[in-house]
Amino acid sequence: MPANVEMDKIVSLCKRRGFVFPSSEIYGGLASCWDYGPMGVELKRNVRDAWWKAVVHERDDVVGLDSAIMMHPRVWEASGHVDGFADPMVDCKSCRLRWRADELEKEICPGCGGDLTEPRMFNLMFKTFMGPLEQEANIVYLRPETAQGIFVNFENVLTTSRKKLPLGIAQIGKSFRNEITTGNFIFRTREFEQLELEYFVRPGTDEKWFDYWVKERFDWYVRLGISKDNLRLRQHGKDELAHYARDCYDIDYLFPMGWSELEGIANRGDFDLTQHAGASGREITYFDTESNEKYVPYVIEPSAGVDRSVLAFLIDAYDDEEIEGEKRTVLHLHPDLAPIKVAVLPLSRNEKLTPLARDVYRQICTGFVTDYDDSQSIGRRYRRQDEIGTPFCVTVDFDSLEDKQVTIRDRDSLAQIRVPIEELNAILEAKLKGEAFDSSSLWATRQK
Ligand code: GLY
Repeated sequence: MPANVEMDKIVSLCKRRGFVFPSSEIYGGLASCWDYGPMGVELKRNVRDAWWKAVVHERDDVVGLDSAIMMHPRVWEASGHVDGFADPMVDCKSCRLRWRADELEKEICPGCGGDLTEPRMFNLMFKTFMGPLEQEANIVYLRPETAQGIFVNFENVLTTSRKKLPLGIAQIGKSFRNEITTGNFIFRTREFEQLELEYFVRPGTDEKWFDYWVKERFDWYVRLGISKDNLRLRQHGKDELAHYARDCYDIDYLFPMGWSELEGIANRGDFDLTQHAGASGREITYFDTESNEKYVPYVIEPSAGVDRSVLAFLIDAYDDEEIEGEKRTVLHLHPDLAPIKVAVLPLSRNEKLTPLARDVYRQICTGFVTDYDDSQSIGRRYRRQDEIGTPFCVTVDFDSLEDKQVTIRDRDSLAQIRVPIEELNAILEAKLKGEAFDSSSLWATRQK
């Protein structure tokens, strides 16, 4: 399905249904900072979990790490971030707005057409002070990437995990960049969350592993429901490569503002381990017992953004549909990503129905993230669940009191099947794992 939705519709849905709110909204908001509401926090957690499952749990060559956000300042000298992690910045001499020089199409202010200053390099790291004294010696940085926490722990992880190369170390966490220009909702923010894997390999095998991870990561988005038509691979030009990279591909998504990066897969060579070995005075090498060789591993790095992945999943899932003359907005989210898996909806708030509906809710809520909603008309409640992407609604009606069966409604096809309450958990589990939702099902009694 082509992603042809405007960003305003996504922002509005996110606000209306509790996915994302402007940060500090009661004070007028804070530029480019956003808070994830009850639905957003579930979606974001599901994106993280899907990544961790694919990259760590379903493999025996990757382990996890959770390193501190603040690191020794020498880490950032060695990594090249103190000297090299900067964007060229220009100021408008008339309206004083600030721009990234490398993103301007013309050498005039895009805001007012005014003249611009000469570009100056602006370091993107946030600085603060550790302890009570605000002096040079106490400067620490908020990490601009989680990757360095992995490089400085390479030896610790290698020794304690007792693994051989190729070995990946994965980390999910917040990073911070004082971007000159932010925007496009949660696409570019100064505080953001990364999904980073550093995959350490024997030099000479790096190109093979680079190709492997480009494909693996592209396929991950497709498996989770993003249309292939809205994804592309783009190789970085030599002038565009980060200071540490020998080669890099971006996985771009066709966002409403155009093709933009979802994830970068870089071949970092031995840059980082060599830099840290030189700066710390520690030897950081790997002894290969098969070839009896000692070497500095090369690193392949798939690095994705959680927030922009959330945005891409929302955009790709979004649809305004008209079904039998009725309009609905629906998020066709992959079940693994949907914030709520099942909603229990008694036909009405009725003293006879409520106890059974609550029992059904209690029966399934330990197995699946479940919502219980008995307010407003059943039609409005279906619409609400469609808008937050709930794959299945379970309706408890007056027949349920007699036949001990309930109706499951499928979000995408709107097909309905009637099933015994005692079988409900097993059926929901199979359907959430992708079993077809159609009338060939044993219990199907109704269509639409
Ligand atoms: N570690 C790569 C990046 O943050 O872009």
